[in-house]
Amino acid sequence: MTVRERSADFWERQRQAPLYEQLVRHAMRRPHPFHVPGHKMGRSFDHHGRERFGPVLELDMTEITGMDDLHQPDGVIAEAQALAAEAFGAEETRFLVGGSTAGNIALIMTVCRPGDKILVQRNCHKSVFHGIILARATPVYIVPAVDPATGTAVGLRREDVERALQAHPDAKAVFLTNPTYYGMGIDLAKLAATVHRFGVPLLVDEAHGAHFGFHPAFPRSAMQSGADAAVQSTHKMTGALTMSSMLHIQGERIDRERLARNLAMIQSSSPSYLLMASLDLARRHLVMEASREWERLLLQLDKLRERLDRVSWVELARPVPNSVCATWDPLKLLLVLRTADADGFELMRLMEEQGIYPELAENGLVLLAASAGTSADDLDALARLLESVSPERRSGKVRMVEPGVVASSFLREQAMPMHAAIDAPRETVALEQALGRIAAEMVIPYPPGIPLLVPGERIDADLLELLLELRKGQTRFHGVQDARLQTIRVIDERQQE
Ligand SMILES: Cc1ncc(COP(=O)(O)O)c(C=O)c1O
Repeated sequence: MTVRERSADFWERQRQAPLYEQLVRHAMRRPHPFHVPGHKMGRSFDHHGRERFGPVLELDMTEITGMDDLHQPDGVIAEAQALAAEAFGAEETRFLVGGSTAGNIALIMTVCRPGDKILVQRNCHKSVFHGIILARATPVYIVPAVDPATGTAVGLRREDVERALQAHPDAKAVFLTNPTYYGMGIDLAKLAATVHRFGVPLLVDEAHGAHFGFHPAFPRSAMQSGADAAVQSTHKMTGALTMSSMLHIQGERIDRERLARNLAMIQSSSPSYLLMASLDLARRHLVMEASREWERLLLQLDKLRERLDRVSWVELARPVPNSVCATWDPLKLLLVLRTADADGFELMRLMEEQGIYPELAENGLVLLAASAGTSADDLDALARLLESVSPERRSGKVRMVEPGVVASSFLREQAMPMHAAIDAPRETVALEQALGRIAAEMVIPYPPGIPLLVPGERIDADLLELLLELRKGQTRFHGVQDARLQTIRVIDERQQE
């Protein structure tokens, strides 16, 4: 059911924001706060910061009477989560105050016991690998297909997942990312049906898709497609405060008691009421107001496309479904450079000089994320900048991407389990000397935060070449001891013996 076809009761309920309203009611009583936090609703706070933080500090509460408890909800938090579940089409929704990171980790620890196999899309976010390490699970990687139009890794092919499920009937779950950071998605409903034929749950990292299902221009959400669990960064593409995310669940395949226990271990015992209230409000805004804002934005994005069609050296990637990419988020603006004499980093620098801040740059790409909060003025500034770059300077070779290649850069020999490798004896070697060695650390170009190498994997020639190439550019690396990647930590195999 789309949001527009809901009953009158639905609208009446969704008009409420019980957690936020409770916080406001409490602040208006002008209480005497003999409880933490010590700023006492903003009364003791750096005086320079008070002007900007002030109204918000009044709502920065803790688990006093009437405020409920995220870890045992039976009051306003339970009501807010129930409204979110209704809005997002879940049976149960849990608010997350540690981002999707917390949700991904908790989910993996819920479905896997030590040694259990889990089928995992190889280009998942680092939090998924961290979850596997903490669960001491055994990942079986499935390599994503590459979108021929943009050259970026998209999602899993159904046949690859089916083959993996046949080869590993003991796998406890399939974990994938949909959509990608770049906004591309697969036919999730078909995949969910395939996965369920094997009796295992489908867990989806939907960090970039909190708006999915809320407007006909967006793809259907993971919940609508039949996934058993979906983790959404409500703070990314919709309006919650940074770190505020949601975990949606449906069906019987996930042990909800175990999940609640894991969330309680992973998340703070003092979850931020500001973050949780922002989730309550983001849900209400999505249901009640965002569509109008998206209607305006989508028209403006059409105009942006028309303007950029006349700029020959850069292309705003178009949502044309193909064999690997079934859906596309129109709010992700992926600028593909069709020239060899400029790279994405240079374009991003030009943009930033003009006050335009993209999500990320790569050699041939710049990714911008629009949202209901993106204004006509923002889009005009972007178009003006791209139009102003001289075509003569950009008249190099057209950059082409090989169609249909598989993202082989993601798959290498797992010589030892990840959780064993992170604690094994290690040594530091020059990157150039690392061929054939087993990694003791993750190498994560950031953003987007997708590990190219995880602990326990053997460094092969393809990967070494790729890392040496990336090192020349402006890529930042997470997970590594040496952020410039001159050196890398590898397993000291002599001490292993
Ligand atoms: C695909 C994906 N999953 C999970 C995360 C983690 O989300 P959060 O920042 O909400 O913890 C990110 C963050 O960039 C992401 O891109």
